[in-house]
Amino acid sequence: MAVNFAGWAAAHQSRFEEVLRGLLPQPEVSPQRLHQAMRYAVLEGGKRVRPLLAFAAGEWVGADVERVNIAAAAVELIHAYSLVHDDMPCMDDDVLRRGKPTCHVQYDEATALLVGDSLQTLAFQLLSERQLSDDGLQQLEMIKLLAAASGSRGMAGGQAIDLESVGRALSLPELENMHIHKTGALIRAAILLGAQCGTVSAAQLARLDHFGKCVGLAFQVVDDVLDFAADTATLGKTAGKDADNDKPTYVTLLGVQAARSMAHDLHAEAVETLAEFGDKALRLRELADFIVLRKF
Ligand code: IPE
Ligand code: IPE
Ligand code: MG
Ligand code: MG
Ligand code: MG
Repeated sequence: MAVNFAGWAAAHQSRFEEVLRGLLPQPEVSPQRLHQAMRYAVLEGGKRVRPLLAFAAGEWVGADVERVNIAAAAVELIHAYSLVHDDMPCMDDDVLRRGKPTCHVQYDEATALLVGDSLQTLAFQLLSERQLSDDGLQQLEMIKLLAAASGSRGMAGGQAIDLESVGRALSLPELENMHIHKTGALIRAAILLGAQCGTVSAAQLARLDHFGKCVGLAFQVVDDVLDFAADTATLGKTAGKDADNDKPTYVTLLGVQAARSMAHDLHAEAVETLAEFGDKALRLRELADFIVLRKF
């Protein structure tokens, strides 16, 4: 019997939590405080959107779920590291994340810094020590893809643009460029890596890449809208933080209505990109719906 989207997502989320528990260093292993802080930052929280995108792309191409688990974990570890650093006083200076005190508040700043370092390197350790592809060269390409999506030409670069933009009015193309890098890059990588764990044609990959670009940008547009329109309890992170920190966002540039409608346009483009694949792309389409309609 076909499982609905909520059932499919919940099953993957609980299964994936156990995968992460097993892949992270155990809390009793030295250095215990660092390992405990790494687990604190990754486990029991988060929507796991990037892993779900990897699972949906992997299922589409018939990839082995054990392989996709590793690709999804690598992306989620990088994402969790980016959140730990994003919340530090030198960046967004936030005290609440995923409904809990941020890592540097619960532990301390030096530990939070090392948590980020260690999660990032664990991601690449996993990608290089586990088999993700029958073709070794293809696996190297996958490692390169995540490195590029995470570094100064990807997420970290987008974060640098974000910090440089405080108090400035960006143009629409500048804002889009910032969001595509700081958030879009990892979302795109999650989809492509999930698919590359299986057998995927160049044409399918090109479509997935465009889909990923649209939903990755839509994800951050919606994040900007929710920062403005939702409350702290629902978000599990401090609402109104962008305005407090004088960040340019889609809401400051376009207003909340136009920002919402831009997210809907990006959703339409994403769905259109996969239209010819019919039911095979159902979960990806449903994830695009979730990304745009979510309330947290
Ligand atoms: C928050 O990402 C930071 C952005 C890149 C917008 P998520 O909204 O995916 O955060 P979690 O993982 O669910 O906590
Ligand atoms: C964060 O963007 C993007 C990354 C962590 C790479 P935000 O600063 O808007 O994320 P939140 O709102 O704190 O989750
Ligand atoms: Mg930020
Ligand atoms: Mg932030
Ligand atoms: Mg935000």
